[in-house]
Amino acid sequence: MKALTIAPLLRGLSFDGEKGDIIVYKSRIDYAELTCSATELPEQFEKGMHSVIVDGVGGFLLGEDYDDAVNGTTLAPKVTGRAGVVNNKVCVVTGGAQGFGEGIVRELVKNGAIIFIADMNVGGAKKLAIELNEQEGRTVAFGVAVNVTDEKSVKKMVDEIVKTVGGIDLFISNAGVLKAGSVKEMTLKDFSFVTDVNYIGFFLCTKHVAPVMELMNQPQGNYYTDIISISSKSALEGSNKNGAYAGSKFGSVGLVQSFAKELVADNTKVNTVCPGNFFDGPLWSDPEKGLFVQYLNTGKVPGAKTLEDVRAFYEAQVPMNRGCDGEDVTKAILYAVEQKYETGQAIPVTGGQVMLN
Ligand SMILES: NC(=O)c1ccc[n+]([C@@H]2O[C@H](COP(=O)([O-])OP(=O)(O)OC[C@H]3O[C@@H](n4cnc5c(N)ncnc54)[C@H](O)[C@@H]3O)[C@@H](O)[C@H]2O)c1
Repeated sequence: MKALTIAPLLRGLSFDGEKGDIIVYKSRIDYAELTCSATELPEQFEKGMHSVIVDGVGGFLLGEDYDDAVNGTTLAPKVTGRAGVVNNKVCVVTGGAQGFGEGIVRELVKNGAIIFIADMNVGGAKKLAIELNEQEGRTVAFGVAVNVTDEKSVKKMVDEIVKTVGGIDLFISNAGVLKAGSVKEMTLKDFSFVTDVNYIGFFLCTKHVAPVMELMNQPQGNYYTDIISISSKSALEGSNKNGAYAGSKFGSVGLVQSFAKELVADNTKVNTVCPGNFFDGPLWSDPEKGLFVQYLNTGKVPGAKTLEDVRAFYEAQVPMNRGCDGEDVTKAILYAVEQKYETGQAIPVTGGQVMLN
């Protein structure tokens, strides 16, 4: 057995009914409370142990949070029940460096999560992690590089996370792109680009994350984990001249439902959150290439003379008269994690703009 197998098993063996210990792998440590072979581990491991050496594999440091595992200091908040839904749980957010992903990252950290900000923009991910660690006064965030369309890169990300903390409790597949255009004109290149990130990226991430969650569940059989994709209201209703995007998001709902049926055997729930438009995020509000500027310049909104006119036009289409934000989305994520009796669902967060039948 390798470290990448043993670390999630240890997280599963230390499961306390909500989550396991953080498990930090070191190829060598000098002393441990337990030294044994991989096969002896399930019998000999006892909850509360802080260090284990597995013959021929290396050392594992255990703790309530990352700092506790590495140097025995823990400032981890002690909360349980509804307030502790993600407390000290390992959460990964792809595309977490900006936009919705950044909002979700910030909200999950407020709720006590240990976060991996996984992004192609690794500089942005690491910068945000440093800011959050300073803000919280403990190690709560890590930046990690990933291109979700590249299987090797996805596998490398998952391996790095498992070696650093032992597993993944909540994986949020948020990285997504949009290229709008008429079906009569859109190039295959643009269509494939959107499909690769939004649809295939979700498949690749689930492919490599689900086996880790299976290992975590193996020792005790009651370790619930979550995979949540961030799709869109365009996963529920077609979007004019935006077929590549809506198609990829509708398709991801099919993946969610199918993966949910399979992974329920490992206690892994798979759901998707379908947000409305994030008007304050870069996609809409970027002063140079945001959709508000584009729609003003191309005259897409009849009679609009200013950016505010364009914004007001879109806000008026939402019964609750405002855009969606990271906090709105995170509330749905927390619901999906807390709810142990639902899987394979698409949860709208659209201010009433899209209503399910
Ligand atoms: N912005 C909206 O109005 C809106 C509405 C509904 C749903 N969504 C969905 O929410 C998610 C986030 O959207 P956003 O508007 O915040 O996006 P954004 O463009 O602001 O941020 C996307 C992030 O994903 C990263 N990224 C892009 N491609 C990647 C790849 N191949 N691998 C790894 N990282 C990659 C980018 O570097 C960036 O940090 C997307 O899935 C999007 O479809 C957005």
